[in-house]
Amino acid sequence: MDIKNKKLTNEEFFAERKEVLEQWRTGKDLNFEEAVAYQQSIPKEKRFGEKLAGAVREKTTLIQPRAGVALYDEHIKLLQYLEEEGEADLLPTTVDSYTRLNRYNEAETGIEKSRETRRSMLNGFPIVNYGVNICRIVTSSLKSPVQVRHGTPDARLLTEISIAGGFTSYEGGGISYNIPYSKNHSLEKTIAHWQYADRLIGLYEEAGVSINREPFGPLTGTLIPACISNSVAVIESLLAATQGVKDLTVGYGQCGNLIQDVAAINALNILTREYLDKFGFNDVRITTVFHQWMGGFPQDESKSFGVISWGAAAAALAKATKVIVKTPHEAMGVPTKEANASGLRATKQVISMLKDQDFTTIPAVVAETEMIMAEMRCILDKVEELGKGDYAVGTIAAFEAGVLDVPFAPSKFNAGKVMPARDNSGAIRILDIGNLPFSPAIVDFHKQKLAERAAFEKRPVSFQMVIDDVYAIGKGFLVGRPKTV
Ligand code: 5AD
Repeated sequence: MDIKNKKLTNEEFFAERKEVLEQWRTGKDLNFEEAVAYQQSIPKEKRFGEKLAGAVREKTTLIQPRAGVALYDEHIKLLQYLEEEGEADLLPTTVDSYTRLNRYNEAETGIEKSRETRRSMLNGFPIVNYGVNICRIVTSSLKSPVQVRHGTPDARLLTEISIAGGFTSYEGGGISYNIPYSKNHSLEKTIAHWQYADRLIGLYEEAGVSINREPFGPLTGTLIPACISNSVAVIESLLAATQGVKDLTVGYGQCGNLIQDVAAINALNILTREYLDKFGFNDVRITTVFHQWMGGFPQDESKSFGVISWGAAAAALAKATKVIVKTPHEAMGVPTKEANASGLRATKQVISMLKDQDFTTIPAVVAETEMIMAEMRCILDKVEELGKGDYAVGTIAAFEAGVLDVPFAPSKFNAGKVMPARDNSGAIRILDIGNLPFSPAIVDFHKQKLAERAAFEKRPVSFQMVIDDVYAIGKGFLVGRPKTV
């Protein structure tokens, strides 16, 4: 395969489209012109990008849950409940795992079994099996804009049906929906599949319909250094913009140290803009999403509210455009609608209390922002160099070389050499740099930060710190200290 960061021609796109629409029976109902007309009939206040732009103007942070069940009437009720009782500003449709793996026959069985038992036998909403018309019933039954959230390496048919079905925002990317989710999917292929998805959205843009796109920020959600997830977000933004995407929301998963969290959103915002502008994409709009803690949660519901509220505070103080909200059932599995709404209301309370405070310019945050940006530049400039200016080619080479390396990812195409750990104040630093192309000054900075923690804990810097940190929040701490400290 010969991947290049080049806009797909109409000939390439439509030849591929014929095959894509044959992947499942509901693909045959698709008609691009009719879908454009349907999208144009959606009122402005129900368009995702419009609501995000409003939040930027008002300097507020919008709240969005995750949610999806197998039966469409139940799914509508769930989303209506989350907008009414949960005060959600933006709505999701979380797609089930079979659909994410293109296993539509099993999704069909899941729908049938759910009908028999009247409870959801799928862990999300099977968009492809339902097809365009049922998706339109869902999206038109709600007051708020709705986004598709998933984790699908080959999401081409899902994208077609989703956008024709009236969703106005779409999550994912060729790196972020492969490396953290899959063991065997080749990166060349998933980048190509997501070029297709982005080109489709580019075609809608060219027809006058703007669809918001969100690369998945948190990656594995486990102690991810901001420079790594932010670099992936910048690359996926460049790849998407190349295909004609005009509205991007870049994301980051909470680490837990407030200064670092605010700085990470800052750095993400500044460098996504800078790199898009550098390649001439000055007209692409950028907003940000902050994900409440994506790692292990406490079992106890009240303790979970503590974690949720701290994430809400960080999102507000970082001035993120939206925050993805967790629930007090996170440690148990798919939440009830009541638990989901209670996570939202806790978040809403904190967000509106902190609306008028902004931590982005305090000196410690500025210093951390500069550090993250310096690290990102080392990574991004090396990717560009490896690809001789082509970020798709560079990304493949960078994963092979470990220049891009996602901690705890299952993919066999990921080097897995980089090992993160928290420093003495809970910021995520890098214990094993692996092959990250950092300058000597940056390497020393990380060493020194971990040495400070080791001295405080009276133990050597070691892999044990990493293990302790992975489990710490579930046990009620941020930094995983030995019992003797
Ligand atoms: N409904 C609600 N939350 C879901 N998640 C996954 N599927 C669903 C669903 N159908 C959440 C998980 C985790 C995150 C990655 O997505 O609980 O918080």
